[in-house]
Amino acid sequence: MPQTTISLDHPLDFARWRTATRTLAGQHVPPDDIAWHVAPSGGPDAPMPDAHPFRIPRETMQLAADVLQSMLPDRFTLAYRLVYAHVTGTDVPPAELARMEAAAAGVRAETARLRHGLFTLMQRTDGDGAWHATCDAATYAPECNARFITFQLSLAPWRLALPGRRMEWTGHELLHGHDGADASPLAFNSLPPPAMPLVDGLDIARITALPAVALAARTCRICPMARHATRTVFGEGRSDARMMFVGEQPGDREDLAGRPFVGPAGQLFDRALHAAGIDRDDAYVTNTVKHFKFRRSGTRRIHEKAGPAEIANCAPWLAAERRIIRPHVLVMLGGTAASALLGRPVTIGRERSRAITLGDGATGVVTVHPSFLLRVPDEAARGREYDHFVADLRLAASLCAPARA
Ligand code: URA
Repeated sequence: MPQTTISLDHPLDFARWRTATRTLAGQHVPPDDIAWHVAPSGGPDAPMPDAHPFRIPRETMQLAADVLQSMLPDRFTLAYRLVYAHVTGTDVPPAELARMEAAAAGVRAETARLRHGLFTLMQRTDGDGAWHATCDAATYAPECNARFITFQLSLAPWRLALPGRRMEWTGHELLHGHDGADASPLAFNSLPPPAMPLVDGLDIARITALPAVALAARTCRICPMARHATRTVFGEGRSDARMMFVGEQPGDREDLAGRPFVGPAGQLFDRALHAAGIDRDDAYVTNTVKHFKFRRSGTRRIHEKAGPAEIANCAPWLAAERRIIRPHVLVMLGGTAASALLGRPVTIGRERSRAITLGDGATGVVTVHPSFLLRVPDEAARGREYDHFVADLRLAASLCAPARA
């Protein structure tokens, strides 16, 4: 007979399920002692007593999340059992594990189908321009891919009719409702994580809104750097900027702040921009690679150069920034940016300080990376290099066509 009742706000309330599970499994409460109810409370989470902190392996949590997207009537108990077994060092009964694995496989298959067939499924309405579709889903995978759908459709409104229920992104909020009932807001963050990483199957080249690209890039886990760095540091600035500056990768300070060029190299860059008469607020500043690559030395994090694999992994994000912003002038700060954007090895000394016509009609200017200036040991030489850098920035500014109408 269950002794503890947990109320979830909606059938996909992963946030409350996880909080309750961590607490109850930490107290070794057996799965059969818990009753899970779906009953909208509308209020904040009820406080749960603290349990000893413990780590749940990523694969266990993902399997639990996948099971919660299935339509199994006992999915909350099954998913709890996985965590409980991990915490108590007991085994999940093989028949239950098999049911969970079969359910998770169904969720994964439906996730892959939805992602790869999204543009076949979704049609654009003539009237309001929103996307819409009817989807014959056998799981809750569509709900858990709401974020994917929203980014893939460039934050445009969409509506999805599902068996017995419907979901809608209004352009501002996600709404969900069962047939015969009003739709109510559904928080993206309350949902189980989708069965595939967010960017898997995302066609970055089709996204037309810069904020959608930036939001999607935040969850990018394509390369291992993403697991060590604090966060993705996406570019920032105007989406109609006429000048775009591309550096190598965020440094320690940028990784912590989540913004490009805010550390020592960024401060020197700001000074040089000012000297060249360029207002950073009018430009777009980004990096070739969006995560900080480093090795640890004691408590310090020492910058490591991004390699070809990381540059290639990040290339779709940089390409999307370029495609959406369409800068007139693209300033490549240092060798990594220059060779990534020109698609060949670049010797800075040979290629800097001149206009280069790029394939998309923009004009490129190669110059040194500001951190190079910080490393010049001799003061007089440093002054000369700084002046040369400012001259390159002035050249870039002079190549800017008048503002687009
Ligand atoms: N160096 C870069 O290339 N980019 C930054 O954002 C900071 C330092």
